[in-house]
Amino acid sequence: SPDLSVTNAKAHLDQLQSIATSNGGNRATGRPGYRASADWVRSKLDAAGYTTTLQSFSTSAGTSYNVIAEWPRGDANHVVMAGAHLDSVSSGPGINDNGTGSAGVLEAALAYAASGQTPRNRLRFGLWGAEELGLVGSKYYVNNLPAADRDRIELYLNFDMIGSPNPGYFVYNDNPAGNAARDDLTAYFTGRGVQTEYVDVQGRSDHAAFRSLGIATAGTFSGAEGIKTSAQASKWGGTAGQAYDPCYHRSCDTISNLNLTSLDRQLDAIGHMVWTYAQKDYGSTNPPT
Ligand code: PHE
Ligand code: ZN
Ligand code: ZN
Ligand code: ZN
Repeated sequence: SPDLSVTNAKAHLDQLQSIATSNGGNRATGRPGYRASADWVRSKLDAAGYTTTLQSFSTSAGTSYNVIAEWPRGDANHVVMAGAHLDSVSSGPGINDNGTGSAGVLEAALAYAASGQTPRNRLRFGLWGAEELGLVGSKYYVNNLPAADRDRIELYLNFDMIGSPNPGYFVYNDNPAGNAARDDLTAYFTGRGVQTEYVDVQGRSDHAAFRSLGIATAGTFSGAEGIKTSAQASKWGGTAGQAYDPCYHRSCDTISNLNLTSLDRQLDAIGHMVWTYAQKDYGSTNPPT
């Protein structure tokens, strides 16, 4: 597996903080900081050689956008996706929620491109708009995919909050179709000496849009408003009795609201999964039905 650069991911977060700062302090749907975030991430992916699409859709707070980037090599009948929501709430810059997932997915995409590989499968990355309004962007994306294209998606990996300042190491356990990927994520962390716990994220992030169509999904999470127990502090460090992210959905979710060890481990887990599933043998030319 690649050791992706947490320094690069941190630089992406600095960029998202700067976009928020120069646009009224947030990157929320319908606000200029969101459009600036989308334009910036798209330009990075374009420059790396991705085929990108800016998909617009309407929401209760105005127009929003998904950024979709596909690596133009590999078997298009077998698509492996990774994604993260790019919008913040309006109360702050959204650096942990979800600058971290966005930066992690972006850095994995850029590193894959830089590696110059032709994967067995097709890699596609999604940066979703308007998750905070109810998964609006990811639902729009899946609902507007032709049925044949939906069937070509073998796996969707979701990353929403992966650098929480008082981190947990949670692996999604809410879609039996994704259990193989769930187990790969768990084994990856265990192999690096990090114990994980399962979390049933229910409908709380964008993988739910894919799951509802029967697509395999998996993901990781370092925690939001939940309180770290003393047993968790024993195995993960940090502070028992405090939230994993005390700045969840608050103005203090800034570039200071990060644990870089969590970000580094999670970033490498994204790399492990993308590199592994890029090469997974899903059978011959026909898409699954
Ligand atoms: N999706 C939630 C938000 O953006 C955060 C969350 C992520 C909650 C993953 C649970 C699991 O606010
Ligand atoms: Zn690393
Ligand atoms: Zn949120
Ligand atoms: Zn989120």
